[in-house]
Amino acid sequence: AEEQLPSTDLITLTRHVLAEQFRLGSAATGDLTLLLTAIQVTSKFIATNVRKARLINLVGLAGETNVQGEEQKKLDVLSNDIMVNALRASGKTAVLVSEELDDAIIIEEKLRGKYCVVFDPLDGSSNIDAGVNIGTIFGIYQIQEGSEGVVADVLRPGHEMVAAGYTMYGSSANLVLSTGNGVNGYTLDASLGEFILTHPNIQIPSRGKIYSFNEGNSMYFHEPTTNYLNSIKFPAAGKSPYSARYIGSMVADVHRTLLYGGIFGYPGDKKSKNGKLRLLYEAFPMAFLTEQAGGLATTGTGRILDIVPTSIHERCPVFLGSKDDVEDLLKFYQTPS
Ligand code: AHG
Ligand code: MN
Ligand code: MN
Ligand code: MN
Repeated sequence: AEEQLPSTDLITLTRHVLAEQFRLGSAATGDLTLLLTAIQVTSKFIATNVRKARLINLVGLAGETNVQGEEQKKLDVLSNDIMVNALRASGKTAVLVSEELDDAIIIEEKLRGKYCVVFDPLDGSSNIDAGVNIGTIFGIYQIQEGSEGVVADVLRPGHEMVAAGYTMYGSSANLVLSTGNGVNGYTLDASLGEFILTHPNIQIPSRGKIYSFNEGNSMYFHEPTTNYLNSIKFPAAGKSPYSARYIGSMVADVHRTLLYGGIFGYPGDKKSKNGKLRLLYEAFPMAFLTEQAGGLATTGTGRILDIVPTSIHERCPVFLGSKDDVEDLLKFYQTPS
């Protein structure tokens, strides 16, 4: 048998992003790449802490509550601090919005750059202590023409983001990124300390066989949600019902949806009008990635990326995934019931 030599031509995330920007003749080149480098480093740093969490007493509560009334875990706070420090120090940011901070951070002039980063430092907090996959989500805007960095720079529709991504801390750390020209996935080679391109040009299958909802909320669901779910669980004769998969970490549920197809949902319901997920740093980045991968992301009544935020921590109903599956769901929302 022919022997396979290991590759000597690795495509790292930085190399890939630079090559992409060069290919597109993008003007932003250097700055966005440097910002993405800073974000990569935070993901590596958070990943090592996630790995060691049990050993270095990083599991459990931090003792504080965040602006949404959630008890913060130690890893929520640590990951937030890691990101704020690195993003500020990068010199490339002007405004930072984090799930864990009540107010936006406006970067002082000395360190000010032209990008705004909105982020969920640690997504899936409830899964930390059980060692289940968790992640980090981020979205990037460029500050508006003439702005010195104000909250209004991030109160803009998601389609104005210049990049979005997440890192999933699982059996390996996976960083999935879009700078507006498709979606690529990179896997952390821990021995090199580099994210290596492993999933070029991710395309979500046009139809899947999996649905991913917290059905524990069924008693609150509106009729279109319930009717849609029934349609895939009790399909027409001869068709197979969908499988259920729900991890409870958006990053992990969306990652699987991008790779395998199907539909992920956290709908608005009778108890929570806008559902649970936060628009700026959960719904927008994931909607951006889903659309860039060829899928759809909707609230049930409109495209998520077209929403104009009015406050930094607002929530929004989310359905995203394979084009055909989301279109099926939309039929239930369009029929008056
Ligand atoms: P976070 O841990 O950042 O607060 O986000 C939790 C979110 C999201 O990851 C997940 O999709 C959802 O909460 C799960 O909510 P339920 O436990 O209500 O299903
Ligand atoms: Mn939280
Ligand atoms: Mn989250
Ligand atoms: Mn979080």
